[in-house]
Parts: sequence; C-alpha cells; structure tokens
Amino acid sequence: MKKMIGNIAVGQSGGPTAVINASVVGIYQAAKEMGAGRVYGMVHGIQGFLERNLILLEDYLETGSGRELLKRTPSAFLGTCRYKLPEIHGNEVVYERIFEVMEEYDIEAFFYIGGNDSMDTVKMLSDYAAEHGKKERFIGIPKTVDNDLPVTDHCPGYGSAAKYIATSLKEVIRDVQSTGLSKPTVLIVEIMGRHAGWLAAAAALAKGGDCDGADAVYLPERVFDPDACIDHIRAAAQKKNTVVIVVSEGIRLADGRFVCELSGSADSVDVFGHKQLSGCALVLADMVSGATGFKTRAIELSTLQRSAAHMASLTDVEEAVLAGSYGVKAAAEGHTGVMTVLKRLQDQPYLCAVDIHDIHMIANREKPVPDEWITEDGRGLTEEFLRYARPLIMGELQPLYIDGLPGHLVRKEIIS
Ligand code: F6P
Repeated sequence: MKKMIGNIAVGQSGGPTAVINASVVGIYQAAKEMGAGRVYGMVHGIQGFLERNLILLEDYLETGSGRELLKRTPSAFLGTCRYKLPEIHGNEVVYERIFEVMEEYDIEAFFYIGGNDSMDTVKMLSDYAAEHGKKERFIGIPKTVDNDLPVTDHCPGYGSAAKYIATSLKEVIRDVQSTGLSKPTVLIVEIMGRHAGWLAAAAALAKGGDCDGADAVYLPERVFDPDACIDHIRAAAQKKNTVVIVVSEGIRLADGRFVCELSGSADSVDVFGHKQLSGCALVLADMVSGATGFKTRAIELSTLQRSAAHMASLTDVEEAVLAGSYGVKAAAEGHTGVMTVLKRLQDQPYLCAVDIHDIHMIANREKPVPDEWITEDGRGLTEEFLRYARPLIMGELQPLYIDGLPGHLVRKEIIS
C-alpha cells in the first residue's frame, strides 16, 4: 500500500447509527498503518470544520481499549450535523474558508461518514477541488439506518438497526400475546426510514419458529389505504386476539400526504427539505380504535432503533470498520470524489467485497425497496428480501460493561 503522508480529517453527518463510530475506528487504524500524520475529528461535521472545531483522535484512540470502546459506542462520537453546502458558483467564500482550514491543518484527505445528503458534501467539495486544481481528496463513507444509498448493496448501520427492530418486535409480540384478553388488542409499531421502507421491512425478520411476526408491514413504497388496513385488522381479529401492524414513518395516503401529517406533527423541515416524520402509529391507532372499538397501542421505536449498540450486528460493525479503512486506501491511491461501496458476492455463506464508486451517482439519490420484494397485497416482504437481510444481522459484539451497563467512549467536553 502506498504511504499516506500528511494529516487527514474525519467527519460524521446526518442521523447517527449504532456503528457509525466503527467507521471512525476503521479510518483511524488504516491511516495510522499507512503512516498518516495527525487524524483530526470534525466536531459536528462540516459545520464544525468551518469553525475550526477539530479534535485530535490520537487523544482518544491511541490505546486498543479506546478503539474497542468506540466501536461499541452508538451515535456520532464526533457529533453530527445536517448542513447543506451552497451551490459552488456565487458562494465561493464558503469553499475558500473550508480550503483555508484544510491548508492551515495540512489536511490531505477528508473523510465524511454519512448518507445521501452527506454525500452531497463530498460531491460539492470534490467538484470544487477539481475546478480549482486543489490536490486534497474527498472520500465518502456510507452510513445510514435507512439503507437507501444507491450502488452499495447495503449501508453500514442498517444491519444493527434491523437486528434491533426484529428483536424488539419479537419481544413486544411476546408481551401482547401473553395477556388473556376479553377484546382484541392491536399493536401498531412505527419504524424510521424516511421515504424508503428498508427499516420497516426488517420487521419481517421477526417471524420464525417461535414468533408469528407482524400481521402486516406497510412500506412507503406503496400508497397506504387506511380503510383497507382497518379491514385487514378486522379480518385478522376474527381469528386471533392480538393483531400486530408495522408501519414505516414515511407511509403516505393516495393524495401524497404523509399519514403522520394528519396529526399535524410533521411541520419541521430540515435544510435538505425533509419533513420530520413521526407519529403515524398514533394516528393509525386512533383511527383503528375509532373504527373498531378494539384496544390499541402505538409504539414508536424512534431513536432507540438507531442507537442500540448493545445489540449491534457483528457483521455490520465489521463492515463499518472495513468501509472506513477501504476509504483510506482509496485516498492513499489518489482517488477523490468517491464513496466506498459494499458488493455482495453471495448470500449463503454470505460474502461481501468492498470497492469505490463515483459520488455523482450516489449523492442526493434514494434507493427504494425493490417492488418485487414487496408481496402483491402490499402488506409483506418476499423470501428474496429475507435472503438479502438475514446475513446483515448476524453475529454479536459483546458490550464492554461498566457498573452493569455498556460502556461508551465520549468526547471530553460532553461529560462534566
Ligand atoms: O436518516 C436517518 C433517520 O434516522 C431517518 O430514518 C429519520 O427519518 C431521520 O433520520 C430523523 O432525523 P432526526 O433525528 O434529525 O429527526
């Protein structure tokens, strides 16, 4: 491997995951093995970088235990941001500031761990560098529980969230099935994932020899019809006393409105124009109890599903490390304006390789669940989806317990 000379900077951006920090470890280790100088961490991504808010990762990761702890720490250790770089032309001053910081700290390569929107930052910076003859390299490292980045087979962060979702679903199904009920109970579980149903689809993994799984899984890839859903619940309640419905936070009505908007809770919009989607389980629970008189309970897994490092998938952790380290290799070889991608070679036994791909084919694009992986009635997932998802949740990384709780590595200023 070619030696990387000089310093590098690492940033985290967008919604965090249980394994986003494992990619920081992968980048750090590979950079050090290649003889890089200092490894700077951007506090709150590009926003912090613009303010010269940098820390030295050496202060935390020079010991093996620091790295092992960080691999098991959920959420973005460095702090994340949702920040959209402006168009290059007409806004050169922002870019000049970024490159000033790059020069001041002698940063040769910039690694950005994030999803679709964060890859826009990598694209803009690598485009600016190319236009202005700058030598610095910009590499994207994939991360998103939403699993909706194109080109890559899957995204680090997804497998762990999927494992948590399927586990939690099994557990709440156990709970609801345990009570001797006089009237049917309907459990409605809301899963994140924005406009793509990958995360909600992971609920299908709960079904097995010891669990009936959900009675329906509704994804945003299909129009949601509340009346048809209520009819389905009524029919299911004829045969059993508990009905379990999984909904993606992004399900929409035929007129294009998000179901969660019916509660008036989707008003907040981020800089990328994404509405905050939350509350559709509650909306639906009200509709169902109003229409049927059944007892309903709404559960929103919310941020629990993306921060459950205590039950991360080992496959996911290892791939997050690999995505980071391969990005460093790519930068050392002179690549820029690329993201590392995972390429599945086979399902059984699972084999996955790593490569790089042009960022322009990735940034700002969303990959939905393929239509053919959704059952014809629009309420479930096919065996093909299960074959795809199963390997991603395999294996466990035991937390490092401190006083009976999983230990985490945190930046010094975070704790008093
Ligand atoms: O993109 C990851 C994600 O967790 C989405 O699934 C979700 O809609 C969004 O982030 C929530 O963002 P925030 O935590 O900023 O409200």
